[in-house]
Amino acid sequence: MSLPPWAIVTPERRAHIERVAALLDEWARAMGVPDAERARWLRAAWLHDALRDEPRSDELGHGPRAAARAAHEGESDRGVLDAVRYHTLGYVHWDDVGRMLYLADFLEPGRQLDHADRAALTARVPRERDAVLQEVARRRIEWVLRSGWQLMPATVGFWNSLASR
Ligand SMILES: [Fe+2]
Repeated sequence: MSLPPWAIVTPERRAHIERVAALLDEWARAMGVPDAERARWLRAAWLHDALRDEPRSDELGHGPRAAARAAHEGESDRGVLDAVRYHTLGYVHWDDVGRMLYLADFLEPGRQLDHADRAALTARVPRERDAVLQEVARRRIEWVLRSGWQLMPATVGFWNSLASR
């Protein structure tokens, strides 16, 4: 599996996408998920930032555009498409694909912030997926709030679904 032929990514972005895919592959094997399910996680990884470096790309729009293009090119798995579409926001109706991609996008080892702390979270994912998911969502949302940006309704719904468990 690899980037789709229609991807528009810088070398740095490609390296990020490869790390996300590698991390999802590692977690899938550690968690013993079936090959078909692992393949869904990897398709979402390769697709999620495929249009991130288009000239008109932006933080909120690149997920929906990649999902629309993937659907146009024949991807029909609803969980994979929703994972890609909402990967920057969170989404209450995600199946495992969206949840795992959200984790991997944040925890992949190329990101510079809090390296040791992230490595510890990464190691916990196979056995404590939902607890780590809540922690990652909290950190991502704190970042949005500290930056003074709006919280999107999808993000609020996602957080509430995690917090009420
Ligand atoms: Fe990403």
